[in-house]
Amino acid sequence: MTPLLSVRNLKTHFFLDEGVVKAVDGVDFDVFPGQVVGIVGESGCGKSVTIKSVMQLIQKPGRIIDGQILFRHHDEAGRETIIDLAQLDPHGKTIRSIRGAEIALIPQEPMASFSPVHTIGDQIMEAILLHLDVDEEEARRIAVERLHEVGMPNPEQRLNAYSWELSGGLRQRAMIAMSLACNPRLLIADEPTTAIDVTTQAQVLNLLLTLQKQHNMAIIFITHDLGVIAQIADFVVVMYLGRVMESGPVEDIFFNPQHPYTKALLESIPSIYAPAGKRLPTIEGSIPHPFSRPSGCPFHPRCKAFMPGVCNAAIPKLKAINDRQSVSCFLYDHAPAIVEGS
Ligand SMILES: Nc1ncnc2c1ncn2[C@@H]1O[C@H](COP(=O)(O)OP(=O)(O)OP(=O)(O)O)[C@@H](O)[C@H]1O
Ligand SMILES: [Mg+2]
Repeated sequence: MTPLLSVRNLKTHFFLDEGVVKAVDGVDFDVFPGQVVGIVGESGCGKSVTIKSVMQLIQKPGRIIDGQILFRHHDEAGRETIIDLAQLDPHGKTIRSIRGAEIALIPQEPMASFSPVHTIGDQIMEAILLHLDVDEEEARRIAVERLHEVGMPNPEQRLNAYSWELSGGLRQRAMIAMSLACNPRLLIADEPTTAIDVTTQAQVLNLLLTLQKQHNMAIIFITHDLGVIAQIADFVVVMYLGRVMESGPVEDIFFNPQHPYTKALLESIPSIYAPAGKRLPTIEGSIPHPFSRPSGCPFHPRCKAFMPGVCNAAIPKLKAINDRQSVSCFLYDHAPAIVEGS
């Protein structure tokens, strides 16, 4: 099957006066139709920059400097063509016709995404009128239907509400309704449950999974929470300092992790089976400052399996180690590495 989205060697850097932040520095992953891909990694590892790159929402001084973002785009005539989103003009017609219609985003800051001076109904209807060939009455009907689908009580009345009048959970539902307004084939959710309590979080995750099945859409779900990944993802991409360390089906990542970083991440989750009083292992060291990236594998200064002269000398490539998992680590990689600066 051809992936719906195929990200290859994506590099997005920020060119600041103080230096270059290599926020995303060679990321590869695929998303197949109807699949839920979870991207997980600690704060600052480049999750948001990756998906902002996919949406062509990177602003100066940031820039996509290399790589491909291949997407199965449906043009106005309904024909499918594979286009490279990385090559599109961020302000051009094509990406504007894709954003919100074929690929929708639930951003990391939902409060900031709704305008406080327009009702949520106006904003959902505006998205529908922009992308679908319908009149205002039909747009209104679709908006009510979407709000109903996401479990909004009294959807007809709620059309007239402002985002700040809604509780966190309802605002998140309204955001999901707006992102689904035009039936996207890919929904990208950037930490959509971080700001809400655990009960509401579980409801929102279930809701997303129900909608995903109903609409047969693919989801990229971004989080730093492995518990959330276990609940929602089919396939997991583990990121560290702008690179993919490991990727594979969710059960392999949890029960058969290969990369020392994935293993360390999993060990740092509390378990109800751990003996009482046992200290929770943490990953030694801290994430380096963006300006002082380590040479070689970015994880080597914190890695228990560090091999001097190997891991700090070159960057390992992401390579399939079996028919399910890919790992970027010299413990597994005997192929030529990427020599830095190349
Ligand atoms: N506009 C910008 N200018 C300079 N650096 C940036 C900018 N946006 C992001 N960065 C840097 O890029 C790196 C990746 O940031 P990103 O927001 O993608 O992290 P994240 O994985 O989404 O983290 P979080 O879990 O905290 O949301 C960080 O070092 C960040 O400081
Ligand atoms: Mg982020």
